[in-house]
Amino acid sequence: MWDREGILPDVLAAVGHTPLVSLRRILAPNGVELVLKLEAFNPGGSIKDRIATRLITVAEDEGRLKPGGVIVEATAGNTGIALAMAAAVKGYRALFVVPDKMSRDKIAILKAYGAEVRVVPDVPRENENNYQHVAKRLAREISGGCYMGQFEQAANPEAHYLSTGPEIWNGTRGRVAAVVAGAGTGGTISGIGRYLKERNPGILVVGADPLGSIFTGPVAPFKIEGMGEDYYPDTLDVKVVDRWLAVSDEEAYVMARRLAREEGILAGGSTGAIVHVALKIAEDLKAGSLIVALAPDTGRNYLSNIFVDE
Ligand SMILES: Cc1ncc(COP(=O)(O)O)c(C=O)c1O
Repeated sequence: MWDREGILPDVLAAVGHTPLVSLRRILAPNGVELVLKLEAFNPGGSIKDRIATRLITVAEDEGRLKPGGVIVEATAGNTGIALAMAAAVKGYRALFVVPDKMSRDKIAILKAYGAEVRVVPDVPRENENNYQHVAKRLAREISGGCYMGQFEQAANPEAHYLSTGPEIWNGTRGRVAAVVAGAGTGGTISGIGRYLKERNPGILVVGADPLGSIFTGPVAPFKIEGMGEDYYPDTLDVKVVDRWLAVSDEEAYVMARRLAREEGILAGGSTGAIVHVALKIAEDLKAGSLIVALAPDTGRNYLSNIFVDE
């Protein structure tokens, strides 16, 4: 048992317990209060730190990942970063397959943690060279390879059911009326949604979806990273999502830039999208209601795209 008060055993123990921060200038209509949960405070810099340890622990328990094994995953970045960090702590090799639309900044971070990266063209899932299929193939071919499966493993939504959901409930003293999140794997919104609805079935669970993603359809290309899909992943429980709202790349990027300049919160494009949707949802809520919007990662991941004036 770790009993050195005030000192954590390793960096993974610092995951979670992220701050809830009120917005001061970007105000919701109707006297509704908007609060962001700043997931960039996780040591790997995003909400995906929460699932990395759980995906690894479950894979170890099931015997899929053995000592000396190789963690393989398909990722648009943040899950890779979280797994790369956890792999470093736990002594595993890590190999990530990423779509070529992913920002260079995030690829550099994966490599900084000592991970190997394969960049593949961003093609639909029907294509056998889609990043998820390539990652699964590599995991089978490499000795000791273990596909982590963030789009399939129940460990992903469970991590949010066990940590993010309770943190939102406890941090707002149960006052939360609506929660707004994006969905890539759907792990975040499904885990949080299930937990919060068990506490209070009246809580509104809202999905922010890039224009062009299937959850608000029809499917078309979009630039926002980390959220939106062209199919329904196993890890998404659509039953807990009350409403989906589509948001354009431009609306998301404009809001991300406003958050940096007006609130001092440097967050990614998906946070911009989520806040844009949260302000819309506020129109339907009563004065004094509290909305919690997820801020999945930091704008430092996107200095070369969202925050470049050109
Ligand atoms: C950058 C980023 N990472 C991760 C997530 C979480 O997605 P999920 O838990 O659905 O995979 C999001 C969702 O908005 C995101 O924008």
